[in-house]
Amino acid sequence: MVPSGIYILALLALVIAAYAATPQLAPAEQLFSPLVAEKIAKVAAAPPNPIQYPQYTDRVEGDWIWFKPDEWTTGFFPATLYAMHKRAQLCPSISGNASQWLELGRSWSTGEISLEHNNTLGHDVGFVSYPFMLELGVNSKNATAQTAVIAFAADLAARFNPIVGCTRSWDTADPTDFQVIIDNMMNLQVLFASYELTGNQTLVDIAISHANKTMQNHIRPDGGSFHVVEYNATTGAVVARFTSQGYSNSSTWSRGEAWGIYGFSNMFKHTRHLDYLETARRMAAYWIRNTPSDGIIPWDFNAPLVPPRPADSSAAMIAVNGFLLLAEQEKSVFNESGAIYYTNEALRMLQANTALAWRPEWQSLLANGTVNNPEHNNLTGIVYGDYFFVTAGNQLVELGLASCV
Ligand SMILES: *[C@@H]1O[C@H](CO)[C@@H](O)[C@H](O)[C@H]1NC(C)=O
Ligand SMILES: *[C@@H]1O[C@H](CO)[C@@H](O)[C@H](O)[C@H]1NC(C)=O
Ligand SMILES: *[C@@H]1O[C@H](CO)[C@@H](O)[C@H](O)[C@H]1NC(C)=O
Ligand SMILES: *[C@@H]1O[C@H](CO)[C@@H](O)[C@H](O)[C@H]1NC(C)=O
Ligand SMILES: *[C@@H]1O[C@H](CO)[C@@H](O)[C@H](O)[C@H]1NC(C)=O
Ligand SMILES: *[C@@H]1O[C@H](CO)[C@@H](O)[C@H](O)[C@H]1NC(C)=O
Ligand SMILES: *[C@@H]1O[C@H](CO)[C@@H](O)[C@H](O)[C@H]1NC(C)=O
Ligand SMILES: *[C@@H]1O[C@H](CO)[C@@H](O)[C@H](O)[C@H]1NC(C)=O
Ligand SMILES: *[C@@H]1O[C@H](CO)[C@@H](O)[C@H](O)[C@H]1NC(C)=O
Ligand SMILES: *[C@@H]1O[C@H](CO)[C@@H](O)[C@H](O)[C@H]1NC(C)=O
Repeated sequence: MVPSGIYILALLALVIAAYAATPQLAPAEQLFSPLVAEKIAKVAAAPPNPIQYPQYTDRVEGDWIWFKPDEWTTGFFPATLYAMHKRAQLCPSISGNASQWLELGRSWSTGEISLEHNNTLGHDVGFVSYPFMLELGVNSKNATAQTAVIAFAADLAARFNPIVGCTRSWDTADPTDFQVIIDNMMNLQVLFASYELTGNQTLVDIAISHANKTMQNHIRPDGGSFHVVEYNATTGAVVARFTSQGYSNSSTWSRGEAWGIYGFSNMFKHTRHLDYLETARRMAAYWIRNTPSDGIIPWDFNAPLVPPRPADSSAAMIAVNGFLLLAEQEKSVFNESGAIYYTNEALRMLQANTALAWRPEWQSLLANGTVNNPEHNNLTGIVYGDYFFVTAGNQLVELGLASCV
């Protein structure tokens, strides 16, 4: 017989450990402002005819600028409506009617369907798949969504070059010039989503090969990343490493780094290859080391401080989601302290960047997003910044780290 005192002591120790291990930061209160549902519902209620999709806002009034469906960002607004469907289930009192959000998500997705077999989206079929993958989370039997996911994954797989070992990102005039961007790590998800429907292992093999090459050639020893790696399609050799949207060829563009943290955490989740977890950790360490003391994420970590460098709230929100996904992976390998560490970093980043960018009078939820600073497109609202802001709030509620009010 073990004396019951031992049990009590053990229980006490567990309670103390659990307390010490609990993330201590309060999440940004704006996450659950009634304005979140109000603003999104207002945009959703008035779809342009013919359909167009919001991508970013102007810099002054914060009004959405609308784009034709054949854009890499098209999926994010419908995906936000699916995220609000989840939000309404998690936070019924403040977020409206869940089934109405679902209806909106579905109706806003239909404009995309025609893109399935005839689009100019290239590798971005992965981003455009978001609403269809989310639909399958609601109704795994939805044939339209299944067909879209399978078709988009096949589109991406058709861009795979076995000599290079990657899926092609951008199309170039010279077919031997094969450019891969770090963003492409995000598109691999659609390959796994199709694999889950079809059991086609080739899709998983392509994702693994692409991730391995990206790990070798895009990620620097310090955990920073190149935006673009150009390969020779006939020899597979690396021809150049450079930037398109970042500050310089050797800088780390923050949104690319955020895509990488998320993308490698996701690869670990699907494959359990520890190299992916280690890569996500190294990229996260770079991110944390290079975040200024005010916590505001600049558009490029190496951009000069003078004149003041524009923030990119979208990079921050993607990274918040990336850190939460990384925390979940640490938990899955029983690294509780690692999980708490990344969760706290996510909360800190969410707090600081929301305080900067929350803009009640704009149509977007957040301002201070930078789409493409070299093209002078900075300090706007961005549809994927808003999407990842809403999903961050949902996850914190699901994790028991935030309440809806
Ligand atoms: C939510 O909306 C659906 C469909 O529009 C409707 O049938 C349902 O009654 C609504 N639920 C509530 C609680 O208002
Ligand atoms: C199936 O999903 C699509 C979007 O992917 C949506 O437009 C459609 O309404 C859904 N169908 C049903 C029956 O829910
Ligand atoms: C499909 O793509 C082809 C060539 O890429 C183009 O000529 C055609 O107009 C497109 N069709 C539609 C309906 O967009
Ligand atoms: C699996 O996917 C690959 C890449 O899209 C495709 O070439 C192949 O035909 C698929 N296999 C089957 C059995 O459908
Ligand atoms: C790729 O290599 C081939 C053969 O060596 C060469 O002809 C071609 O110009 C190269 N292309 C690039 C983009 O380097
Ligand atoms: C990819 O990387 C993993 C982990 O390092 C390794 O186990 C696997 O063999 C690699 N696969 C390919 C196709 O390169
Ligand atoms: C950046 O790399 C590109 C592609 O290799 C090259 O054309 C360009 O000259 C480089 N820029 C600088 C400033 O070195
Ligand atoms: C945030 O955006 C506002 C304008 O919307 C701008 O005045 C401010 O300088 C921006 N701050 C940063 C750090 O980007
Ligand atoms: C737990 O995670 C932290 C942060 O990534 C890492 O430094 C540490 O090595 C991990 N511990 C184990 C046992 O894997
Ligand atoms: C931000 O964009 C504006 C024009 O849209 C441009 O004038 C300004 O130089 C950009 N800021 C920086 C720091 O590049």
